[in-house]
Amino acid sequence: MTESRSPRFIQSPVADGGPAAARAALLAPRPSIAPKYFYDPLGSKLFEAITELTEYYPTRTEAAIFAAHGEDLRKAFGQGTILVDLGAGNCAKAARLFPVLVPRRYVAVDVSVEFLREALRQVQREQPQLEVVGLGQDFSAGLDLPAELLEGGPPLFFYPGSSIGNFTREEAFAFLHRIHERATGGGLVIGVDLVKPRPVLEAAYDDALGVTAAFNLNALRHLNAAIGSDFAPRQWRHVAFYDEAASRIEMHLEAREPVVVRWPGGERRFFAGERIHTENSCKYTASGFASLLRDAGFRDPQAWTDENGWFAVFHAAA
Ligand code: AVJ
Repeated sequence: MTESRSPRFIQSPVADGGPAAARAALLAPRPSIAPKYFYDPLGSKLFEAITELTEYYPTRTEAAIFAAHGEDLRKAFGQGTILVDLGAGNCAKAARLFPVLVPRRYVAVDVSVEFLREALRQVQREQPQLEVVGLGQDFSAGLDLPAELLEGGPPLFFYPGSSIGNFTREEAFAFLHRIHERATGGGLVIGVDLVKPRPVLEAAYDDALGVTAAFNLNALRHLNAAIGSDFAPRQWRHVAFYDEAASRIEMHLEAREPVVVRWPGGERRFFAGERIHTENSCKYTASGFASLLRDAGFRDPQAWTDENGWFAVFHAAA
């Protein structure tokens, strides 16, 4: 008789000071909204829509790289690993690797365990023998994995989609270093968006249909719900540009007119044209990212790219 398994769910304590930190960031001389505020239920749908846009190449390019190199990946990654999926979302990217990787345990990490429930039930239906764990944790401030989840096999951390780009280089180094500490005997598979000509980058973050603009503006709605502010999205404009010296896309929201935003216990005035920073999306060269991996303690970084050299999937041993 085959045992029938079901997913296990663990919610880490929600990082304290979320709303307080969000209000403080609005009051700073250079105001900002953290990128996690993009992702309420509507924002997650808008991001999915972005991934279908002609201009937004990263998602489909990364998928093509995985599809083209299945056999190489199997050799590099090894089977029977504990697959730790960082920012798992709908778990589709990892699920496509199951036939190649045959992991022994699948640990899906995302901000809220609620995002993972349905996706992991589906994963379990398709992989009845796999041990499936959902971990709700906001790891943007630092990953904190219960040690028991890593017992019983070499860990393979999976961080696709170039989400690493949301970190500054210094933050990316610290994050990779921390993963390296947890990954001993295993490794890391990570998707990284590469430096490329400005027009390609800027179109990807300012598309013709305005989906990215809606995604950016939606952070205001989400923030209103989270901290009780009264942002009116119509008073704000989406701005995205490539800062070549810093090799990063920056997204901002720019006030179309003088704006006063109020929330319980505070307010902020914005002058017309003043900007709120909402996201960095750092771009790397393949050699620069390999160096970053080595600096963080990883060995033998190996990269696969598409024919344009627009995106890279790296594997490195810990
Ligand atoms: C999910 C962080 C990888 O930076 O390309 C897409 C988010 N922002 N369009 C990215 C995003 C605007 C995306 N990441």
